[in-house]
Amino acid sequence: MSEKDLILTEIANRYNPVGFGEGEVAKEDLEAIMKAATMAPSAFGEQPWRFFIATEEEDREMLFSYMTPGNALWAKNAPVLIAVAGYIYGTGDRTFNYWSGFDSGAAWGYLALEAMRRGYAVGFIGGFDRNDIKREFVLDDEDFYDFYAIIAIGKPSENEPKEPIKAKALAEVLLQKKK
Ligand SMILES: Cc1cc2nc3c(=O)[nH]c(=O)nc-3n(C[C@H](O)[C@H](O)[C@H](O)COP(=O)(O)O)c2cc1C
Repeated sequence: MSEKDLILTEIANRYNPVGFGEGEVAKEDLEAIMKAATMAPSAFGEQPWRFFIATEEEDREMLFSYMTPGNALWAKNAPVLIAVAGYIYGTGDRTFNYWSGFDSGAAWGYLALEAMRRGYAVGFIGGFDRNDIKREFVLDDEDFYDFYAIIAIGKPSENEPKEPIKAKALAEVLLQKKK
């Protein structure tokens, strides 16, 4: 395999954890991880992503309470939880920002890559009450926000099964042009 064929290690070795090991996320690591998230590209430079970072027990418990029980269980040892939302209206003219989810997805992708580069495991939780959770936050208008996912970050657990990513073949995900 040539150098050109190699995929970024963090991408190639990523997996959704089933738990976390002992240990905290260092403050400077968390700062860098969040910085990476905010450096993602966005349509019109809107930077529609919004984050709530839970490191305190009370805040983590609050986020757990909105997750499905199974998710709260595997994520329970994660020292950091981050709720990712998007501001879905353009800040300029307040028209619908079609790219809010797309851009927020790029932001959590960047966040995850930086976290993994720093030796952490990163898990994604879409199984939570994305409407009711809004009542926990100061929002100018609840309808202007979508909550997409909660991200769990922590040290990898020792017995994590590290199977290779089951990525679909490129041919399976290519759109075909009409004849
Ligand atoms: C937006 C998003 C939401 C997800 N929600 C959940 C979830 O609620 N619970 C869960 O166990 N895994 C969740 N996952 C993890 C996926 O199921 C997992 O990434 C997928 O099965 C592929 O496995 P891999 O990440 O180990 O390659 C989510 C992933 C993403 C990207």
